[in-house]
Amino acid sequence: MNIRIFNDKEELYREAANFFIDHVKENPNAILGLATGATPIPLYQNLILDHKENKTDYSKVKSFNLDEYIGLPKDHKETYYNFMNENLFKYINIKETYVPNGDPNKKEQSCLEYENLISNNQIEIQLLGLGANGHIGFNEPLTPFDSKTHIVTLANKTREDNARFFNSLDEVPKEAITMGIASIMKAKTLILLAVGENKADAIYEMIYGKVSTECPASILQTHSDCYVFIDRAAASKINK
Ligand code: F6R
Repeated sequence: MNIRIFNDKEELYREAANFFIDHVKENPNAILGLATGATPIPLYQNLILDHKENKTDYSKVKSFNLDEYIGLPKDHKETYYNFMNENLFKYINIKETYVPNGDPNKKEQSCLEYENLISNNQIEIQLLGLGANGHIGFNEPLTPFDSKTHIVTLANKTREDNARFFNSLDEVPKEAITMGIASIMKAKTLILLAVGENKADAIYEMIYGKVSTECPASILQTHSDCYVFIDRAAASKINK
C-alpha cells in the first residue's frame, strides 16, 4: 500500500484528481471505476474544473460505478445514478457510463449483467471510499473476499451513516447492489480516499489489522498497486 497523509485536504483532492486526469490524458480510452458518497465530491469538482479550463477529453472514456441502492424510484435524488449525473457526468463530456441497476425486480439478472460487463472491461483505476465499518463498495463486514457483483443487506451502521442524505433513517434503502470484493480487486490500480476522524478506526484496521473479512478493506493490503490518500484526521490512529 502506498499511503499518503495530507495536512491540507485541498491538496489531497487536487492530487487525487490529477491521478485520474493524468491517466485520461495518457489513455484517451481509459476505463475508470468510480464511487459515490460524500468523500469523492471534491475530487469530482476538481475534474469538472480541469475539464472546463484544460479541456481534458472524456469522450472515449468509460466509467463503472461500484454500487447502487435497490428500490429507490428512478427520479430519487439519492440514487447513485442521479448522484453521478449531478456531481460529475453532466459537467464533463463522458458518454459511456455504467451504474449497477437498482431495479428490485431484476436483482439476480442485474448482478450477472454487471459482473459480465466489468469482466469484459478491465478497470484501470478504481476509486474507493471507506465505510466507518471498513466496507468498500457496499461490501459489509463478513462479505467473502471472493465475492462478485451481488445484492447486500446494508449494515445498520451504514444505513445510519447514510441517513444524513435522506429525510429519515426509514427512507434509507435496506438493500444495495455492489461490485464484489473480487470484482474490485481485479482493477489494475486502486485509489482509496478517506477524510475525517470517523474513518480513523477503519483506516487503522485497513492498514495494520489482520487481513480478515471483519474489515473488508484489509484485503487492500494484498493488492499490488493500491494508493491510500488520507487527511490528518483519518490518519489520527496510525503512528506516522
Ligand atoms: C459508495 C461506496 C461506499 C462509500 C463509503 C464512504 O459508492 O462504495 O463504500 O465510499 O460508504 O462513504 P462517504 O464517502 O459518504 O463517507
